[in-house]
Amino acid sequence: MSKANVLTGITTTGTPHLGNYVGAIRPAIEASKDEHVTPFYFLADYHALIKCQEPELVRKSSLEIAATWLALGLDTSNAVFYRQSDVPEIMELTWMLTCVTAKGLMNRSHAYKAAVAENENGKSEDADKGINMGLFSYPVLMAADILMFNAHKVPVGKDQIQHIEMARDIASRFNHIYGEHFTLPEAVVDDNTATLLGLDGRKMSKSYNNTIPLFEPEKKLKKMINKIKTNSLEPGEPKDPETCTLFSTYQAFARPSEVEEIRKQYAEGIAWGEMKKVLFEHINDHVAPARDRYQALMQAPEHIEEELQEGAKKARAISQPFIKELREAVGISAIKA
Ligand code: TRP
Repeated sequence: MSKANVLTGITTTGTPHLGNYVGAIRPAIEASKDEHVTPFYFLADYHALIKCQEPELVRKSSLEIAATWLALGLDTSNAVFYRQSDVPEIMELTWMLTCVTAKGLMNRSHAYKAAVAENENGKSEDADKGINMGLFSYPVLMAADILMFNAHKVPVGKDQIQHIEMARDIASRFNHIYGEHFTLPEAVVDDNTATLLGLDGRKMSKSYNNTIPLFEPEKKLKKMINKIKTNSLEPGEPKDPETCTLFSTYQAFARPSEVEEIRKQYAEGIAWGEMKKVLFEHINDHVAPARDRYQALMQAPEHIEEELQEGAKKARAISQPFIKELREAVGISAIKA
Protein backbone atom coordinates (compact mmCIF):
# COMPACT_ATOMS: atom_id res chain seq x y z
CA MET A 1 0.00 0.00 0.00
CA SER A 2 1.41 3.39 -0.87
CA LYS A 3 1.74 5.90 1.91
CA ALA A 4 -0.43 8.99 2.28
CA ASN A 5 1.35 12.34 2.08
CA VAL A 6 0.47 14.63 4.95
CA LEU A 7 1.79 18.15 4.59
CA THR A 8 1.76 21.26 6.69
CA GLY A 9 3.72 24.51 6.87
CA ILE A 10 4.68 26.77 9.74
CA THR A 11 5.11 30.45 8.98
CA THR A 12 8.39 31.69 10.43
CA THR A 13 7.27 34.83 12.17
CA GLY A 14 7.47 34.15 15.88
CA THR A 15 8.64 32.06 18.79
CA PRO A 16 6.65 28.85 19.33
CA HIS A 17 4.30 29.18 22.30
CA LEU A 18 2.27 26.75 24.39
CA GLY A 19 -0.78 27.29 22.16
CA ASN A 20 1.18 26.33 19.02
CA TYR A 21 2.49 23.30 20.85
CA VAL A 22 -0.85 21.96 22.00
CA GLY A 23 -2.78 22.90 18.87
CA ALA A 24 -0.35 22.01 16.10
CA ILE A 25 3.14 20.86 16.98
CA ARG A 26 2.31 18.06 19.43
CA PRO A 27 -0.25 16.38 17.12
CA ALA A 28 2.07 16.78 14.10
CA ILE A 29 4.96 15.17 15.92
CA GLU A 30 2.77 12.29 17.06
CA ALA A 31 1.67 11.84 13.45
CA SER A 32 5.27 11.83 12.25
CA LYS A 33 5.74 8.45 13.93
CA ASP A 34 3.02 6.76 11.88
CA GLU A 35 4.67 4.58 9.27
CA HIS A 36 1.63 4.63 7.03
CA VAL A 37 2.13 8.29 6.21
CA THR A 38 4.92 10.43 4.84
CA PRO A 39 4.75 13.73 6.67
CA PHE A 40 6.04 16.80 4.87
CA TYR A 41 6.62 19.54 7.44
CA PHE A 42 8.25 22.75 6.38
CA LEU A 43 9.29 26.20 7.51
CA ALA A 44 7.19 28.55 5.41
CA ASP A 45 9.77 31.32 5.23
CA TYR A 46 8.50 32.84 1.99
CA HIS A 47 5.12 33.16 3.67
CA ALA A 48 6.80 35.06 6.50
CA LEU A 49 7.78 37.89 4.14
CA ILE A 50 4.12 38.74 3.60
CA LYS A 51 3.72 40.05 7.09
CA CYS A 52 7.23 40.53 8.43
CA GLN A 53 9.84 42.71 6.80
CA GLU A 54 12.37 42.43 9.58
CA PRO A 55 15.05 40.01 8.31
CA GLU A 56 16.47 39.30 11.77
CA LEU A 57 13.07 38.28 13.07
CA VAL A 58 12.46 35.91 10.16
CA ARG A 59 15.92 34.38 10.63
CA LYS A 60 15.48 34.00 14.39
CA SER A 61 12.04 32.50 14.03
CA SER A 62 13.22 29.93 11.45
CA LEU A 63 15.95 28.83 13.83
CA GLU A 64 13.65 28.65 16.85
CA ILE A 65 10.93 26.76 15.04
CA ALA A 66 13.35 24.23 13.55
CA ALA A 67 15.02 23.71 16.94
CA THR A 68 11.63 23.28 18.58
CA TRP A 69 10.43 20.56 16.24
CA LEU A 70 13.70 18.67 16.49
CA ALA A 71 13.87 19.03 20.28
CA LEU A 72 10.36 17.63 20.56
CA GLY A 73 11.43 14.49 18.76
CA LEU A 74 10.22 14.92 15.21
CA ASP A 75 11.13 11.67 13.46
CA THR A 76 13.14 12.96 10.51
CA SER A 77 13.83 9.45 9.29
CA ASN A 78 10.15 9.25 8.37
CA ALA A 79 9.20 12.92 7.97
CA VAL A 80 10.56 15.25 5.31
CA PHE A 81 11.46 18.37 7.29
CA TYR A 82 12.62 21.26 5.15
CA ARG A 83 12.74 24.97 4.57
CA GLN A 84 10.45 26.21 1.81
CA SER A 85 13.14 28.48 0.38
CA ASP A 86 15.48 25.51 -0.09
CA VAL A 87 13.06 24.11 -2.66
CA PRO A 88 13.09 26.71 -5.46
CA GLU A 89 10.75 24.55 -7.56
CA ILE A 90 7.97 25.73 -5.25
CA MET A 91 8.45 29.30 -6.43
CA GLU A 92 8.47 28.19 -10.04
CA LEU A 93 5.27 26.26 -9.52
CA THR A 94 3.76 29.31 -7.85
CA TRP A 95 4.00 31.19 -11.13
CA MET A 96 2.54 28.36 -13.18
CA LEU A 97 -0.38 28.23 -10.77
CA THR A 98 -0.74 32.01 -10.65
CA CYS A 99 -1.40 31.92 -14.38
CA VAL A 100 -4.35 29.53 -14.02
CA THR A 101 -5.82 31.21 -10.92
CA ALA A 102 -8.82 33.47 -11.38
CA LYS A 103 -8.29 36.87 -9.82
CA GLY A 104 -11.88 36.68 -8.65
CA LEU A 105 -10.99 33.64 -6.55
CA MET A 106 -8.29 35.62 -4.76
CA ASN A 107 -10.70 38.52 -4.21
CA ARG A 108 -12.70 36.14 -2.03
CA SER A 109 -9.80 35.14 0.23
CA HIS A 110 -10.63 35.75 3.92
CA ALA A 111 -7.18 37.10 4.69
CA TYR A 112 -7.42 39.69 1.94
CA LYS A 113 -11.05 40.57 2.69
CA ALA A 114 -10.25 41.07 6.38
CA ALA A 115 -7.47 43.51 5.50
CA VAL A 116 -9.80 45.44 3.19
CA ALA A 117 -12.54 45.50 5.83
CA GLU A 118 -10.08 46.88 8.34
CA ASN A 119 -9.19 49.72 5.98
CA GLU A 120 -12.84 50.46 5.35
CA ASN A 121 -13.68 50.48 9.07
CA GLY A 122 -10.69 52.72 9.66
CA LYS A 123 -12.26 55.10 7.14
CA SER A 124 -9.23 54.89 4.92
CA GLU A 125 -9.68 56.43 1.46
CA ASP A 126 -7.89 53.45 -0.04
CA ALA A 127 -9.43 50.04 0.62
CA ASP A 128 -6.14 48.38 -0.42
CA LYS A 129 -3.93 50.50 1.82
CA GLY A 130 -0.92 48.56 3.14
CA ILE A 131 -1.92 45.39 1.31
CA ASN A 132 0.92 43.89 -0.69
CA MET A 133 0.60 41.45 -3.58
CA GLY A 134 2.03 38.74 -1.34
CA LEU A 135 -0.99 38.93 0.92
CA PHE A 136 -3.35 39.08 -2.03
CA SER A 137 -1.98 36.06 -3.85
CA TYR A 138 -0.78 34.09 -0.86
CA PRO A 139 -3.30 31.28 -1.39
CA VAL A 140 -1.44 30.55 -4.66
CA LEU A 141 1.88 30.16 -2.86
CA MET A 142 0.16 27.91 -0.37
CA ALA A 143 -1.35 25.87 -3.21
CA ALA A 144 2.15 25.44 -4.68
CA ASP A 145 3.45 24.23 -1.28
CA ILE A 146 0.75 21.60 -1.20
CA LEU A 147 0.57 20.52 -4.85
CA MET A 148 4.35 20.27 -5.28
CA PHE A 149 4.30 17.18 -3.05
CA ASN A 150 0.88 15.89 -4.07
CA ALA A 151 -0.29 16.05 -0.48
CA HIS A 152 -3.40 14.04 0.24
CA LYS A 153 -4.06 15.50 3.65
CA VAL A 154 -3.29 18.93 5.05
CA PRO A 155 -3.76 19.36 8.81
CA VAL A 156 -4.62 22.98 9.49
CA GLY A 157 -6.55 25.26 11.80
CA LYS A 158 -10.09 26.27 10.85
CA ASP A 159 -8.90 29.63 9.52
CA GLN A 160 -6.95 27.82 6.80
CA ILE A 161 -9.70 25.60 5.39
CA GLN A 162 -10.53 28.11 2.67
CA HIS A 163 -6.95 28.03 1.45
CA ILE A 164 -7.06 24.26 1.01
CA GLU A 165 -10.29 24.60 -0.94
CA MET A 166 -8.60 27.17 -3.13
CA ALA A 167 -5.68 24.79 -3.66
CA ARG A 168 -8.18 22.18 -4.88
CA ASP A 169 -9.77 24.71 -7.24
CA ILE A 170 -6.42 25.73 -8.62
CA ALA A 171 -5.30 22.11 -9.01
CA SER A 172 -8.50 21.19 -10.85
CA ARG A 173 -8.09 24.13 -13.18
CA PHE A 174 -4.51 23.14 -13.97
CA ASN A 175 -5.47 19.49 -14.45
CA HIS A 176 -8.32 20.53 -16.73
CA ILE A 177 -6.03 22.58 -18.96
CA TYR A 178 -2.84 20.53 -18.91
CA GLY A 179 -3.88 17.01 -17.91
CA GLU A 180 -3.96 15.18 -14.60
CA HIS A 181 -0.83 16.22 -12.76
CA PHE A 182 -2.05 17.08 -9.29
CA THR A 183 -3.74 15.22 -6.46
CA LEU A 184 -6.61 17.20 -4.94
CA PRO A 185 -5.71 17.85 -1.28
CA GLU A 186 -8.06 17.60 1.65
CA ALA A 187 -8.02 19.76 4.77
CA VAL A 188 -7.90 17.88 8.06
CA VAL A 189 -9.19 19.81 11.02
CA ASP A 190 -8.87 18.03 14.32
CA ASP A 191 -11.67 19.11 16.64
CA ASN A 192 -10.12 17.22 19.53
CA THR A 193 -6.98 19.27 19.81
CA ALA A 194 -7.25 21.87 22.50
CA THR A 195 -7.21 25.59 21.82
CA LEU A 196 -5.19 27.12 24.59
CA LEU A 197 -6.18 30.40 26.21
CA GLY A 198 -3.63 33.14 26.78
CA LEU A 199 -2.65 35.26 29.77
CA ASP A 200 -5.73 37.47 29.34
CA GLY A 201 -8.20 34.60 28.82
CA ARG A 202 -8.58 35.15 25.06
CA LYS A 203 -7.29 32.53 22.62
CA MET A 204 -3.51 32.31 22.97
CA SER A 205 -2.19 34.10 19.91
CA LYS A 206 0.79 36.12 18.88
CA SER A 207 -1.54 38.82 17.59
CA TYR A 208 -3.07 39.28 21.06
CA ASN A 209 0.34 39.42 22.69
CA ASN A 210 -0.85 37.04 25.39
CA THR A 211 1.39 34.03 24.76
CA ILE A 212 3.66 31.92 26.93
CA PRO A 213 6.71 30.78 24.95
CA LEU A 214 7.04 27.00 24.97
CA PHE A 215 10.68 26.88 26.03
CA GLU A 216 10.78 29.80 28.41
CA PRO A 217 13.44 29.15 31.10
CA GLU A 218 11.98 27.71 34.28
CA LYS A 219 11.94 30.91 36.34
CA LYS A 220 10.33 32.92 33.59
CA LEU A 221 7.80 30.21 32.92
CA LYS A 222 6.78 30.40 36.56
CA LYS A 223 6.41 34.17 36.35
CA MET A 224 4.31 33.94 33.20
CA ILE A 225 1.98 31.35 34.70
CA ASN A 226 1.55 33.58 37.73
CA LYS A 227 0.35 36.28 35.35
CA ILE A 228 -2.59 34.25 34.01
CA LYS A 229 -5.79 36.11 34.78
CA THR A 230 -8.25 34.61 37.30
CA ASN A 231 -11.30 35.95 39.13
CA SER A 232 -11.05 37.26 42.69
CA LEU A 233 -12.54 34.34 44.60
CA GLU A 234 -10.79 33.72 47.92
CA PRO A 235 -9.15 30.47 49.06
CA GLY A 236 -11.82 28.12 50.38
CA GLU A 237 -14.53 29.43 48.07
CA PRO A 238 -15.67 26.82 45.51
CA LYS A 239 -14.50 27.65 41.98
CA ASP A 240 -15.84 26.81 38.54
CA PRO A 241 -13.28 24.86 36.51
CA GLU A 242 -15.19 25.25 33.24
CA THR A 243 -14.62 28.99 33.00
CA CYS A 244 -11.04 28.94 34.24
CA THR A 245 -7.96 29.43 32.06
CA LEU A 246 -5.75 27.66 34.62
CA PHE A 247 -7.98 24.61 34.55
CA SER A 248 -8.30 24.37 30.77
CA THR A 249 -4.55 24.77 30.41
CA TYR A 250 -3.97 22.02 32.96
CA GLN A 251 -6.40 19.84 31.05
CA ALA A 252 -4.36 20.21 27.86
CA PHE A 253 -1.33 18.70 29.59
CA ALA A 254 -2.59 16.30 32.26
CA ARG A 255 -4.05 12.80 32.23
CA PRO A 256 -7.84 12.48 32.75
CA SER A 257 -7.38 11.07 36.28
CA GLU A 258 -5.22 14.05 37.24
CA VAL A 259 -7.79 16.41 35.80
CA GLU A 260 -10.53 14.79 37.87
CA GLU A 261 -8.45 15.21 41.01
CA ILE A 262 -8.02 18.93 40.33
CA ARG A 263 -11.73 19.27 39.54
CA LYS A 264 -12.42 18.04 43.07
CA GLN A 265 -10.00 20.57 44.47
CA TYR A 266 -11.83 23.38 42.64
CA ALA A 267 -15.05 22.32 44.37
CA GLU A 268 -13.16 22.37 47.65
CA GLY A 269 -11.92 25.90 47.00
CA ILE A 270 -8.27 25.53 46.00
CA ALA A 271 -6.49 28.90 46.23
CA TRP A 272 -5.44 30.50 42.94
CA GLY A 273 -1.86 30.70 44.14
CA GLU A 274 -1.87 26.99 44.84
CA MET A 275 -3.43 26.14 41.47
CA LYS A 276 -0.83 28.24 39.69
CA LYS A 277 1.87 26.29 41.47
CA VAL A 278 0.31 22.98 40.44
CA LEU A 279 0.02 24.16 36.85
CA PHE A 280 3.57 25.47 36.70
CA GLU A 281 5.03 22.27 38.09
CA HIS A 282 3.03 20.16 35.72
CA ILE A 283 3.96 22.08 32.59
CA ASN A 284 7.54 22.48 33.70
CA ASP A 285 7.96 18.72 34.21
CA HIS A 286 6.32 18.12 30.86
CA VAL A 287 8.57 20.44 28.84
CA ALA A 288 11.84 20.17 30.77
CA PRO A 289 13.49 17.32 28.82
CA ALA A 290 12.66 18.89 25.44
CA ARG A 291 13.71 22.31 26.74
CA ASP A 292 17.15 20.92 27.57
CA ARG A 293 17.45 19.48 24.09
CA TYR A 294 16.24 22.78 22.64
CA GLN A 295 18.88 24.73 24.47
CA ALA A 296 21.56 22.32 23.33
CA LEU A 297 20.40 22.62 19.72
CA MET A 298 20.38 26.40 19.91
CA GLN A 299 24.03 26.17 20.93
CA ALA A 300 24.77 24.00 17.90
CA PRO A 301 22.82 25.55 15.04
CA GLU A 302 24.97 23.67 12.53
CA HIS A 303 23.14 20.46 13.50
CA ILE A 304 19.84 22.13 12.76
CA GLU A 305 21.11 23.29 9.40
CA GLU A 306 22.32 19.77 8.62
CA GLU A 307 18.86 18.36 9.31
CA LEU A 308 17.27 20.97 7.07
CA GLN A 309 19.71 20.23 4.27
CA GLU A 310 18.92 16.53 4.55
CA GLY A 311 15.24 17.41 4.36
CA ALA A 312 15.78 19.65 1.35
CA LYS A 313 17.57 16.82 -0.42
CA LYS A 314 14.61 14.50 0.11
CA ALA A 315 12.16 17.20 -0.94
CA ARG A 316 14.06 18.09 -4.10
CA ALA A 317 14.33 14.46 -5.11
CA ILE A 318 10.59 14.84 -5.62
CA SER A 319 10.27 18.44 -6.74
CA GLN A 320 12.99 18.48 -9.40
CA PRO A 321 11.64 15.68 -11.61
CA PHE A 322 8.09 16.91 -10.99
CA ILE A 323 8.79 20.47 -12.09
CA LYS A 324 10.41 19.06 -15.24
CA GLU A 325 7.22 17.19 -16.01
CA LEU A 326 5.17 20.33 -15.35
CA ARG A 327 7.37 22.50 -17.54
CA GLU A 328 6.85 20.05 -20.37
CA ALA A 329 3.14 20.07 -19.72
CA VAL A 330 2.82 23.85 -20.01
CA GLY A 331 5.07 24.07 -23.06
CA ILE A 332 8.26 25.33 -21.49
CA SER A 333 11.15 23.19 -22.66
CA ALA A 334 14.24 23.13 -24.82
CA ILE A 335 13.71 23.32 -28.55
CA LYS A 336 13.84 19.82 -29.93
CA ALA A 337 15.61 19.15 -33.21
N1 TRP B 1 -0.57 29.67 5.86
C1 TRP B 1 -0.38 28.71 6.91
C2 TRP B 1 -0.65 29.41 8.25
O1 TRP B 1 -0.59 30.61 8.34
C3 TRP B 1 1.00 28.15 6.88
C4 TRP B 1 1.24 27.41 5.61
C5 TRP B 1 1.97 27.82 4.55
C6 TRP B 1 0.68 26.15 5.26
N2 TRP B 1 1.94 26.92 3.56
C7 TRP B 1 1.15 25.87 3.95
C8 TRP B 1 -0.15 25.25 5.92
C9 TRP B 1 0.78 24.71 3.28
C10 TRP B 1 -0.52 24.08 5.24
C11 TRP B 1 -0.06 23.83 3.95
O2 TRP B 1 -0.92 28.73 9.23
